[in-house]
Amino acid sequence: MSPSPDDIRQWDAAHVWHPFTQMREYLETEPLVVERAEGNYLIDDRGRRLFDGTSALWCNLLGHRVPEIDAAITQQLGRFAHTTLLGTTHPAVAELARRLVEVAPAGLNHVFFSDNGATAVEAALKMAFQFRLLTQGKQAAERAVYLSLGNAYHGDTLGAAAVGGVELFHDIFKPILLPSLKTPSPYCYRCPIGKTPDNCSIDCADELEKALQSAEGRICAVILEPGVQAAAGMLTLPRGFLSRAAAACRAHDALLILDEVATGFGRTGTMFACEREDVTPDVLCVAKGLTGGYLPVAATLVTDRVYEAFLGRYDEYRHFFHGHTYTGNALGCAAALATLGLLSDGTIIGAVEQKARALSEALQPIATHRHVGDIRHAGLMCGIELVADRTTKVPFAPGDRNGYRICLLLRDRGIFLRPLGDVIVLMPPLSSTDVELRHLAASVSAAIVDHFGA
Ligand SMILES: Cc1ncc(COP(=O)(O)O)c(C=O)c1O
Repeated sequence: MSPSPDDIRQWDAAHVWHPFTQMREYLETEPLVVERAEGNYLIDDRGRRLFDGTSALWCNLLGHRVPEIDAAITQQLGRFAHTTLLGTTHPAVAELARRLVEVAPAGLNHVFFSDNGATAVEAALKMAFQFRLLTQGKQAAERAVYLSLGNAYHGDTLGAAAVGGVELFHDIFKPILLPSLKTPSPYCYRCPIGKTPDNCSIDCADELEKALQSAEGRICAVILEPGVQAAAGMLTLPRGFLSRAAAACRAHDALLILDEVATGFGRTGTMFACEREDVTPDVLCVAKGLTGGYLPVAATLVTDRVYEAFLGRYDEYRHFFHGHTYTGNALGCAAALATLGLLSDGTIIGAVEQKARALSEALQPIATHRHVGDIRHAGLMCGIELVADRTTKVPFAPGDRNGYRICLLLRDRGIFLRPLGDVIVLMPPLSSTDVELRHLAASVSAAIVDHFGA
């Protein structure tokens, strides 16, 4: 006999510890129990259909139950589900590596697989350190540090958190994090170096250049999220910042690691956000959308120069000392191949810009609301920053939980969203239609008015 909805609620309440969640508050609210999903909608145990405006926390690209992805997984399951990449290979992983190299910026020819955004970043950071050791020797490696941005988010494992810069997530763990250097975030709405759009020439890029300069060659890698600092509240980077950062890395012999875990696979309107400034990094991290949001597969892509530094005789021990059990999981690789297949003719990604415009236009009426401070967009990544006072940009007290309460109201309007503090995040699947996007925008606007008044 299958468990009743009440059993599920009871077991969830008694045993499941949800991530990034104050469990006391969670237990006081009605849980959303997803029973099925179809296309861009979640269907709960009460039969309600909710538009998934979070894309399953930013990973679902093409909706749920996509026939091509379902079939690819089923077909792979008929062969085997998983084996190891330590000593063996298999068709799905080899083909996926080739396809990733084809779609990535030219020159990223080698793919190291793992299983999540944070693990792709951990691999990148360790590669950068070992690359420094292999190319410059022990003394240089012992002095090596990473440079990252304020407001950065690269995942929650210790290495990824060390290069993070979101105070709320990272500060409490500081005592156990590797020291790393930080440079100001390109957060234009609240510029950390006090610039305004009319007196700024991307001065935060000067700060990054200065940090590299004053570290006198110690920085082995600069890591950043191109296009959008997503988890900090969808902070869109000014155009030109990335190419300045890339040039500074080259000038100071630091590797450039780009974290496209959130922005990759079309979210910003190009396959990767770094294409918008024609930047090819030394190391590229991808995850989330790679499998269409079906299964945890991540990849760290590197150039020949990085890869070849690790080659040598076995007993020189130059190989990369890193790996995970589920690396190259065959079911995940099959899902990723099907996803890349669906993206391959460019139609889906090619439509993102126009869909983003439809979303942006539909949000215009709420843009002047007294508690809407800023609306930021890069393709189908959008953040609406709520403020106590639009003129002074003073934020609300965190305990007010305006973003959260507005998202709860949205459930009654058939929309599922999860905010980042007082930033309402809209990250709908690329498969969303214009009608759905307009409905999403209208529902969010209505919920803001319901909550605050007109
Ligand atoms: C830019 C970026 N990097 C890394 C991560 C971590 O990915 P995961 O949660 O799969 O470990 C995220 C997650 O949101 C992210 O946005």
